Amino acid sequence: MHGKFKIIAATALLASLSFGAYAQSAAERSIQYRQGIMKAQGWHLGNMAAQVKGDKPYNKDDFSRSATFLSQLMQMPWDGFGPGTETGAPTKAKADIWTDAAKFKSEGDEAGKAAAALAQAAASGNMDQIKVAFGATAKTCKTCHDDFRTK
Ligand code: HEC
Repeated sequence: MHGKFKIIAATALLASLSFGAYAQSAAERSIQYRQGIMKAQGWHLGNMAAQVKGDKPYNKDDFSRSATFLSQLMQMPWDGFGPGTETGAPTKAKADIWTDAAKFKSEGDEAGKAAAALAQAAASGNMDQIKVAFGATAKTCKTCHDDFRTK
């Protein structure tokens, strides 16, 4: 009796968990996922921008941490741009992402390379190198936003 009750309770728990997960559509979850990663990218780019501009004192470890996180984050948003995620929640993604997928992927790859180079420059602590690598990275964000994000 006791054991049976446990099984029922566990089944009910599982059902409530899966209800939670599926109450949202797959497209909505994808859109929120990619926007969340992009927001985190914006957070770390902003932290580095403040230090490059001198609005915040440069701290090698703090800067390097953000550069490493950004480089890792740059690998992540693309899972959230799968087929069928053009709509399903408020989004600024342009339809061209799915009609010109090769260009979108190549711009994403470029951004990943730029962020990896920025993480390397950050580890050197050399501000001249950092500024160049930071500018190149920020440019890859802008290029893709100009091409693939609505205003
Ligand atoms: C290959 C294309 C691409 C690259 C590279 C890219 N983004 Fe984005 N970004 C997008 C798209 C598309 C959206 C809109 C996503 C949506 O609304 O579904 C977006 C949205 C955003 C948003 C808004 C998120 C929100 O909904 O609040 C921020 C912030 C952002 N990106 C930051 C960055 C930063 C910082 C970089 C560079 C380090 C970057 N992005 C690089 C394509 C890109």
